[in-house]
Amino acid sequence: MIIKTLVENTSTSEEFNSEHGLCLHIETKKHKLLFDLGASALFVENAKKMNVDLSKVDLVVISHGHYDHGGGLKAFLNVNSKAKIYLNQKAFDKHYANIRGGDKAYIGLDEGLLPNERFIFVDDNIIIDDELELFSSIKGRRLASLGNQDLFMELSSSMVQDDFAHEQNLIIKEDSKTLLVAGCAHNGIVNIIDHLNIANNGSISHVIGGFHLYNRAANTCEDPLLVSQIGEYLKNTDSKYYTCHCTGIEPYKKMKEIMGEKIQYLATGSQLIL
Ligand SMILES: [Fe+2]
Ligand SMILES: [Fe+2]
Repeated sequence: MIIKTLVENTSTSEEFNSEHGLCLHIETKKHKLLFDLGASALFVENAKKMNVDLSKVDLVVISHGHYDHGGGLKAFLNVNSKAKIYLNQKAFDKHYANIRGGDKAYIGLDEGLLPNERFIFVDDNIIIDDELELFSSIKGRRLASLGNQDLFMELSSSMVQDDFAHEQNLIIKEDSKTLLVAGCAHNGIVNIIDHLNIANNGSISHVIGGFHLYNRAANTCEDPLLVSQIGEYLKNTDSKYYTCHCTGIEPYKKMKEIMGEKIQYLATGSQLIL
């Protein structure tokens, strides 16, 4: 399995532009897929630099209904004519974030893209084939990010705290490896892993994703104590971790102190072979 980071918040060198967003190209034995599409068309530019032919992508997963994960949807539809795009059924609900000055900004997906026959809306979970599986409905809130308190959804015309029911995670099984891919892990990476353990899906060998320990709206990082608790939890699992995007550099450094070689950072332009 080859994972190329087309977009995340930092880059490996000046050759690659970066943005607040996530887009991974994952090549398995059966698929060439994209997990998230970043905030803009930047992934198209970086795909060319990384020798990724976007017209050959056969499947896309959008992790949740925030612009930094689905902002590149329109650009993708322009460069690829075949891939189905898997979204949670609530991905196009209206989502907002607190911004400075007490206002709220729309951070959801572009509703102007609806309807589209290439979109596949997923309920709780779906087994796509013997390699790919999507799941959502994470219940626990243990060690969840306080930054979530700045995020909202519209429900019956009023603004309420986002419950992140629109967030789905991907499992990829290949040979003896089982990879969990999360977008922002708004539900908490600990709860997502707990959910998998309870569902008895077998052990997870690798985890890739943002852990939402950096609050972009407030430009603050989570309490180092919470970050340490998450690091301790992850250290005691059997998986190896590759993080990026909304984890934030400071929280990453803190977790690296605790987890050592068990955690690595994936910057734009990096290639990982599992
Ligand atoms: Fe994000
Ligand atoms: Fe998000």
